[in-house]
Amino acid sequence: MAVVAELSSSSYTKTTRLNSSQLSLSSNHLSYLRRRAFRPITRPRNATVSCSITPNQVQAPIAVPAEEPKRKNDCYGVFCQTYDLKAEEETKSWKKFINIAVSGAAGMISNHLLFKLASGEVFGPDQPIALKLLGSERSFQALEGVAMELEDSLYPLLREVSIGIDPYEVFQDAEWALLIGAKPRGPGMERAGLLDINGQIFAEQGKALNAVASQNVKVIVVGNPCNTNALICLKNAPNIPAKNFHALTRLDENRAKCQLALKAGVFYDKVSNMTIWGNHSITQVPDFLNARINGLPVKEVIKDHKWLEEDFTEIIQKRGGVLIQKWGRSSAASTAVSIADAIKSLVTPTPEGDWFSSGVSSCPLNVICYYSQVYTNGNPYGIAEDIVFSMPCRSKGDGDYELVKDVIFDNYLLKRITKTEAELLAEKRCVAHLIGEGVAFCDLPEDTMLPGEM
Ligand code: LMR
Repeated sequence: MAVVAELSSSSYTKTTRLNSSQLSLSSNHLSYLRRRAFRPITRPRNATVSCSITPNQVQAPIAVPAEEPKRKNDCYGVFCQTYDLKAEEETKSWKKFINIAVSGAAGMISNHLLFKLASGEVFGPDQPIALKLLGSERSFQALEGVAMELEDSLYPLLREVSIGIDPYEVFQDAEWALLIGAKPRGPGMERAGLLDINGQIFAEQGKALNAVASQNVKVIVVGNPCNTNALICLKNAPNIPAKNFHALTRLDENRAKCQLALKAGVFYDKVSNMTIWGNHSITQVPDFLNARINGLPVKEVIKDHKWLEEDFTEIIQKRGGVLIQKWGRSSAASTAVSIADAIKSLVTPTPEGDWFSSGVSSCPLNVICYYSQVYTNGNPYGIAEDIVFSMPCRSKGDGDYELVKDVIFDNYLLKRITKTEAELLAEKRCVAHLIGEGVAFCDLPEDTMLPGEM
């Protein structure tokens, strides 16, 4: 027997003993062994924690401390070490840390997002965070890879990381839940099938949030079809205010701002008051009637109204699909940026006179909108109740928002809003079985598609 592999990081130190026939190992085999060494030894079906330090894995350091340092449970690797956050709070005036759960944490979007979160650029340089990462059995090893990269990044604000595959464990005490993971539509899969498969995931996650998350958790649903997934999630979480659920349409807003800036020959920071109405699908309505460029109505700056009505709208509706054709996969980096923007819009006060778009509950007066009367008098636009519909919002920076009332409509806008509303109502009928409304009846309009399905 000979010792051939000794991993460097103290938290992973493990000696692998091999017999002589295994001594001439290829580097592939060595890396296989390294990977095996990182794996938890046994993991029950619903394990959450992969704390990479376990007593039988740790090789005694040369100078043995008198007492084993205290380590936390529910943690990954270096994040199992205790730390004195109170001292940091006192000396650096840091806030109390927040728990952020992220599903689909081993995917491309998360790979961009998690590092933004950990760096402090989203919640602020004085806000320590704990990341609770949800993956699947299939992606568990990649999830460990993500956690290792987070360890190696030495972010001062990142205080805890845990990984797992059971939402009831990972969502424990979550104050933010960023629900990114969803099944992509496979070849030959009907949209009704996609709604059903993903709907089941979001129904389960809604139940888990309801059971174990903070009762005021803010939920941003990214996995498509995100509006209806958000509706399913909120309907399965009756103890959490419906207003706390968002479907991500910030990516569409950002895309719309960019295209208007391009057409007007200005930088995109000059575009404001950009609303995306409705569904994150190709019926979405980027509102150029209420948007502004340099504080002026878009139609006064861009005189080519035909472009606005015909080209601009379609460019935004189909941008995701064009991107898929170029990349061979869905947008990831810009989606992560837009999730960060969506959060920032809720945790910082909206600039005076401006607003942002988010897919939110359209049913403030419905009984499921738990704290409805407190936050608004209702959806002021006459949009059907009880769907998740993208609308203009403003925030005081406290994580909450209110709907903007001073918007105008014309026939063009109303006609398109009606179409995207009809699509969402059809999607809702299609998932009736997942929201406690009886038997599903799927009569989706033929052109109902995600931005990526062209
Ligand atoms: C996007 O808008 O980029 C995505 O939602 C597209 C998709 O269908 O994945």
